[in-house]
Amino acid sequence: MSTPSMTLFHSPASPFVRKVMVLLHETGQLDRVALKTIVLSPVNPNADLNQDNPAGKIPALRLADGTVLHDSRVILEYLDQQHVGNPLIPREGSARWRRLTIASLADAILDAAVMIRYETFLRPQEKHWDLWLDNQQDKIERALTHLEQDAIAELSSAFDIAAISVACALGYLDFRMPDLAWRKRHPKLAKWFAEVSERPSLKATEPPVA
Ligand code: BEZ
Repeated sequence: MSTPSMTLFHSPASPFVRKVMVLLHETGQLDRVALKTIVLSPVNPNADLNQDNPAGKIPALRLADGTVLHDSRVILEYLDQQHVGNPLIPREGSARWRRLTIASLADAILDAAVMIRYETFLRPQEKHWDLWLDNQQDKIERALTHLEQDAIAELSSAFDIAAISVACALGYLDFRMPDLAWRKRHPKLAKWFAEVSERPSLKATEPPVA
């Protein structure tokens, strides 16, 4: 086992961090990264993190030379170029843009779900903006419908950036929005997720018990 040369600003609850952790597992790079656990929320910033990432967000990855990379997409791209196995982000051609577009849709699910989490968990109930919450939830539903109806074959064809991102998005919905009951409306996606959830990389990075 080698000494870690990089530091990942980390929280086990963050689905964006989870994507990075899954890629580290899948590409055999776990021992290259030390984890620095960060506790933060939009109303409770972390001074240490702010020094390395002015955006105050995780994940951020400090490299051996002190350079700090963020956000998750940049870190994933970097780490995928640091191993000798098959790339998990296609380097070129139409596959690259197709797979990154699915990953982007998964990130849109995550952005909406994290916003909902912040609005409902951090703001007093009497200040919740229901119209805004409904629109975030509609975005999630539209994205899930697209994945179910138009992208399931593509998604099932490889476990790469697209699959990692969608799996982490679905895992976050289960973690923070269990009442969404998305499986009833999206059975093909549910079957796919049950299968990929058996992978050691996803098992090892499951969010903590809520
Ligand atoms: C969460 O606890 O839901 C969370 C933590 C870090 C980033 C995003 C979400």
